[in-house]
Amino acid sequence: MTRVFSDQNLDEVASVLASGEPVAIPTETVYGLAAPIFNEVAVQKIFSLKGRPSDNPLIAHVSSISMAESIAQEIPESFYLLAKRFWPGPLTLVLPRKECVPKLVSAGQGSIAIRMPAHPIALNLIEQVGEPLVAPSANISGRPSPTCLAHVLEDFEGKLSAVVDGGVCQIGIESTVLSLLSDVPVLLRPGSITKQQLEEALGLEILLPQSSEPVHSPGMKYRHYAPNGAINIVDSVPSLPAGAFVLSRDPIDGIQHRALNAKELFAHLREADILGAEEIWVLTDPITMASTGLMNRLLKAASKV
Ligand code: TXA
Ligand code: MG
Repeated sequence: MTRVFSDQNLDEVASVLASGEPVAIPTETVYGLAAPIFNEVAVQKIFSLKGRPSDNPLIAHVSSISMAESIAQEIPESFYLLAKRFWPGPLTLVLPRKECVPKLVSAGQGSIAIRMPAHPIALNLIEQVGEPLVAPSANISGRPSPTCLAHVLEDFEGKLSAVVDGGVCQIGIESTVLSLLSDVPVLLRPGSITKQQLEEALGLEILLPQSSEPVHSPGMKYRHYAPNGAINIVDSVPSLPAGAFVLSRDPIDGIQHRALNAKELFAHLREADILGAEEIWVLTDPITMASTGLMNRLLKAASKV
């Protein structure tokens, strides 16, 4: 049976985590499936529960800069600048890892991805457990990330001993991931903190991963965020079948649609599955949307690989 907790009984949740049972917890981006970083048995359970490929590393969630320093080394000045500016918040920074980080967590990489979540429940639990919590998104691998407790239960009801209800996630797509492994930072995953904001904070240009280079962020090579129906991204309204499942920023004459925005995207993709939609029509201008976190998730959801 899966027990549902709230912010009223986090002490109990902290003891479930400390006992080595993964727990789904809210963050400001999406729900995460959390376990203490140094508990390898618990970390292995996360991979098994999600059906996650073992070459896809996890993000460590910290509640302080010193906690980040306990798992990373050779930390550049740019880390401190960005952490001061954007933490707690939806920015994940990739740094060289210390030897103490279990290999399982970093999936064989010499690096560790770290972020400080801006959610009081997540921060409270990290503090109580007293070590970083690793947490991938709390969905079965390949499914859209969960942005409320009902989504978590769709995937894991009966399979987790505990979940924490923290309401609807404010941001709705996963954190921006930035690698600080080389002198010029590389944006591995776009998110609500934009390339431009990062460049302004650093005072230098950052790079996008080169497709000719080996995969920087292993997770980006897998199909993600995908509903069962086919996603069609179009920039003008085709003649749609009656009852078509449509996402659009703006109203369209005579057609019922759902709002297209980052906060609600994954909820709508899950809803399309529940309704059995075979086609999902997304009405948007791909040029103006290019390189946004929302467009990145849509393109991944639409691709069949
Ligand atoms: O907003 C988020 O980041 C959410 C919440 C729960 O914090 N977490 C999340 O985790 O999205 P996950 O596991 O679904 O995505 C982690 C991404 C993957 O694309 C993974 O490959 C990349 O971060 N990543 C993790 N460690 C890395 C590393 N050492 N080097 C490069 N990429 C890494
Ligand atoms: Mg994920």
